[in-house]
Amino acid sequence: MTNNELISFAVKAMDNSYSPYSNCRVGAALLAESGKVYTGANIENAAFTPTVCAERVAFFKAISEGEKTFIKIAVAGGKNGVINGIFAPCGVCRQVMREFCKDDFQVLMAESPSTYKEVTLKDLLPYSFSPEDVIK
Ligand code: THU
Repeated sequence: MTNNELISFAVKAMDNSYSPYSNCRVGAALLAESGKVYTGANIENAAFTPTVCAERVAFFKAISEGEKTFIKIAVAGGKNGVINGIFAPCGVCRQVMREFCKDDFQVLMAESPSTYKEVTLKDLLPYSFSPEDVIK
């Protein structure tokens, strides 16, 4: 799975965004070690706090299907579904990634439908609090 292919899955996942309040359409595509891709879209709620980000939808789908190890995630998003620069994962999603991934996990953030910025989870969440800090 190339980075560009994974970005394409994330861009396609934006179609299923349920975002009537923010009009920010976000898609994510998570590649597991098994080779399977799990997509997610943000799902908003009238009560606001139950809203779930695209990245967490992708992770929770994968975890609930039995996946344990992850290679990389692609994220694409934009106001009214127009990708106009990166849509960086929020802090809560970064912490969820850290629960299931190590520092070298790759995060691809779409800058346009075909170009992306590549960083590691450590870039996004330095000095992280992780499962290893609790389970000793
Ligand atoms: N959102 C995501 O889906 N992922 C992020 O990492 C940041 C924010 C969504 C949540 C909400 O539906 C909308 O973007 C505006 O915050």
